[in-house]
Amino acid sequence: MVDNASFYVTTPIYYVNDRPHIGHAYTSLACDIIARFKRLDGHDVFFLTGTDEHGQKIAQSAAQNGVDPQTFTDHVSKTFRDLASALDFSHDDFIRTTEQRHKSVCQLLWKELEARGHIYLDTYSGWYCVSDEAYYDENELIKQPDGSFQTALGKSVEWLEEENYFFRLSAFETKLLDLYERQPDFVMPKSRLNEVRSFVSSGLKDIAISRTTFDWGVPVPGNERHVMYVWLDALTNYVSALGVPNSENPHYAKFWPASLHVVGKDILRFHAVYWPAFLLGADWPLPERVFAHGWWTNEGQKISKSLGNAIDPLELVQTYGLDQTRYFMMREVPFGNDGDFSRSAMETRMNSDLANAYGNLAQRVLSMIFKNCNGLLPDMSPLNETDTALLNQINNLLPSVRVQINNQEFHKSLEEIWRGISAANSYVDDQAPWALKKNDPDRMAVVLAVLHEVVRKITLLLQPFMPSTTGKLLDSLSVDQAHRDFSYWEHKVLSGTVIEKPQGLFPRYEAR
Ligand code: MSP
Repeated sequence: MVDNASFYVTTPIYYVNDRPHIGHAYTSLACDIIARFKRLDGHDVFFLTGTDEHGQKIAQSAAQNGVDPQTFTDHVSKTFRDLASALDFSHDDFIRTTEQRHKSVCQLLWKELEARGHIYLDTYSGWYCVSDEAYYDENELIKQPDGSFQTALGKSVEWLEEENYFFRLSAFETKLLDLYERQPDFVMPKSRLNEVRSFVSSGLKDIAISRTTFDWGVPVPGNERHVMYVWLDALTNYVSALGVPNSENPHYAKFWPASLHVVGKDILRFHAVYWPAFLLGADWPLPERVFAHGWWTNEGQKISKSLGNAIDPLELVQTYGLDQTRYFMMREVPFGNDGDFSRSAMETRMNSDLANAYGNLAQRVLSMIFKNCNGLLPDMSPLNETDTALLNQINNLLPSVRVQINNQEFHKSLEEIWRGISAANSYVDDQAPWALKKNDPDRMAVVLAVLHEVVRKITLLLQPFMPSTTGKLLDSLSVDQAHRDFSYWEHKVLSGTVIEKPQGLFPRYEAR
């Protein structure tokens, strides 16, 4: 059953100190697929992405580049917008934390927290990692032979002693544990919920939420010597993009609370502990789910700045094609797990899954209809048991994929769709329409009509994953533009419709 409920999905907002790499593309791609699927399934979708532009790290990067932070962030933020269009992301809005609409909601949140007694002034002395924009306890750090400390991921930390405002995070321990109990899919996958729960139950300390040693941030209302801590500022983007948070604002009323925040595992704590605590503190409703995905390595190696081995998503698109790249990222690794990017795995998927299995199926079916049926789609009757079995298998894909997408199990959807493709290819081989052409042209016509219907349904389902190629294939199948959402799932193309000579859509990868 399809309901028109609104659906709000967000990516993290990306730091503008670096060029976009595969990690950024991956989080956004997952959100794009969900957003596209939900739109096709009749939901009113709001898909948000953007850039995180304040804080010490960005201020330092701007200084290193010899420009003021605003000029710097304007420039780098644009590279993230360019990535989004190069990867065909279908976001509805792109928020920048340097925008006024964002800053005013941050200040509103601050005032709400202050008015409820959750903020106090004190002095922080402890470790800070600029790269993570995070405070660390010494017991979370690793002592180096020279006596300095590093985070578990090898990032350097500095000692801070500063007057800061603090948020009473410690007061939210029980409320957070209740939340995880009441809403066990608030954090997914499950293993991540366990990590978060054990972090919270081991005791929460209050956190510093302002800084005074630089000024690149949102001013603290009432004390402009302080700027807000960049994570409090950044997390608020999920609300500020909807405008003023009150029920008179229709956009906010429609989309808040968010249905899903997709994040990488490294930033789960901010989203599953700090963010709900801030919202609980302000009495603002909580999002429904935070999903944390894993990390990519590059040919077995951790991706790091010092190794200089970041994977450029634009280079992948150029080398392998856009939809091939999108398919690979979602198919190769179960969403939620870590995974390895390797050129050979990419090339194998491109050739075996796309060119040989799916591309070849579509190409064979369409060219046989074009050649053997005068380019007119035949009638799909009478059907025998074999036909019905294949049609049923394909028909069941929509309800399964719907459940899998709701659980962020993209790889399972693709696996199941590919089982359908391989069943369809076996059906072509068993029915051998080329042989029927001579002996039983009526039966050949039915077989080709069944296959047309099978490819139509598979292609409808693959639209969120590979929007451009599936669009072209649906054109070749003569599926009307207006009949491509899932309310037209059962809407076969009429027999007698013209089928043009097909074009090959999934080239094999040949090393150049
Ligand atoms: N600005 C913060 C997020 C604020 S959200 C309120 C931030 N930005 S980021 O640019 O550093 O990270 C963006 C995303 O990229 C994170 O979800 C992170 O997990 C992801 N990735 C970074 N490297 C990655 C891989 N090697 N593999 C997969 N994703 C990775 O954090």
